[in-house]
Amino acid sequence: MANDASAVFDTLSPAVSKGSLADPFTPPADSSLWRKNFLLGAATASYQIEGAVNEDGRLPSIWDTFSAIPGKVLAGDTGAVACDHYHRWEADVEMLASLGLEGYRLSIAWPRVMDAAGAPNRKGIDFYKRLLNRLKEKGITTFVTLYHWDLPQHLEDRGGWLNRDTAYRFADYADLMSCELAGTVDAWATLNEPWCSAYLGYGNGHHAPGLANDRFATQAMHHLLLAHGLAVPVLRANDPASQKGIVANIGRGTANSDSAADQRAAHLFEVQHNAWILDPLLKGSYPQDLFELWPGTEPLVLDGDMETISAPLDFLGINYYFRTNVASDGAHGFRDVPLEGVERTQMGWEVYPDGLRDLLTGFKKTYHNLPPIYITENGMASDDEVTDGRVDDTQRISFLKRHLAAVDQAIKAGVDIRGYFLWSLMDNFEWAFGYERRFGVVHVDYSTQKRTIKRSAELVEKFLQERKAKA
Ligand code: FCB
Repeated sequence: MANDASAVFDTLSPAVSKGSLADPFTPPADSSLWRKNFLLGAATASYQIEGAVNEDGRLPSIWDTFSAIPGKVLAGDTGAVACDHYHRWEADVEMLASLGLEGYRLSIAWPRVMDAAGAPNRKGIDFYKRLLNRLKEKGITTFVTLYHWDLPQHLEDRGGWLNRDTAYRFADYADLMSCELAGTVDAWATLNEPWCSAYLGYGNGHHAPGLANDRFATQAMHHLLLAHGLAVPVLRANDPASQKGIVANIGRGTANSDSAADQRAAHLFEVQHNAWILDPLLKGSYPQDLFELWPGTEPLVLDGDMETISAPLDFLGINYYFRTNVASDGAHGFRDVPLEGVERTQMGWEVYPDGLRDLLTGFKKTYHNLPPIYITENGMASDDEVTDGRVDDTQRISFLKRHLAAVDQAIKAGVDIRGYFLWSLMDNFEWAFGYERRFGVVHVDYSTQKRTIKRSAELVEKFLQERKAKA
């Protein structure tokens, strides 16, 4: 299929104002997005928005520790205040509801809800109860992620995800939360992006806890996936009515040339980004090519682990952002070869909607038991500013439109995709990039905490209103 995405971008005027030009967002009439059961929502994560890191008995997480180390996060930013959502959650839920968003994906901060001995922290749990009850009152579908990277520091002090015991502590945490929150959660995701936790956290050290060793990465991944597998039956027992799944980030790797070596490099890129996680979950084994890339890094796997990890899922959450063009590194692996003249975002990530479609249709061929899919994150950062009370985030509008078109194409090719969550509801703490990179459809002024609805959010709202009116 041709990539006509840039043509769409070229037709947009930066000065698009409400109602004055053809709507640059609303999907075409034949798009599956018009189906009213296609869930459209927004996502956030605890450490990125909550702040209040020392309140009501919250314990330190690995991100509090990591972001306090000079040089680890751009401009020395930390999540100490973030969007102050812990105090402003009521207004934030009003804002979400006023935008007509149908779904909200949030995460729970593990260090807020359990003490170091594993006992419940009532005040922390009550925060999430209030939040989820309010979301349900507003009729919003709730997707709750148990682990979006904020591991309690006391567990890291005992080895973190390198320690098998952390997987069992995670199952205890899942047990507590699903007992406490049953009835207010429509879908539970055990982990967000185990690739990032394992590889960025333990493989190259760009994320907390900042360790850098390939062997650590594969072992941390195994324990993360084990944690997921141990938690799923616990969630099923405590909250049978909800859906259970996991969220994986996926990466498109394309070859810089037709040479066999570059084609192999692109294959290995996708093994490392996708099959490393999806094969154990959906086939019950690790892809052997991974150990060609990282020789000698096979994790320690105990009898029964792979069965635990590959228990059936109700849904698979997919996060997609960009593609990477690669060539052979001349040895076992691949190296990035950034393409010139392509559209990029504030992160420097290439805008490449076809990658989402191609990966999804590829997974359908590879995994015969592929569960129903939700796109649990997709979006882009731009250097947005408020001018006369407005934010015209033209590139984001086009980005969202093109990625939703890619989702529609994948649905039409037979992939069962049930919903899409924008990343993110509001600008927030973008991990190692701090507050500089703005992913929200709502702008946050960090000096006043004022929220300003961006033009992208207005257009999503308008579409959702039109869809409702047609139903
Ligand atoms: C994903 C993370 C999310 C956010 C986006 C931009 O990898 O899950 O928290 O940082 O990237």
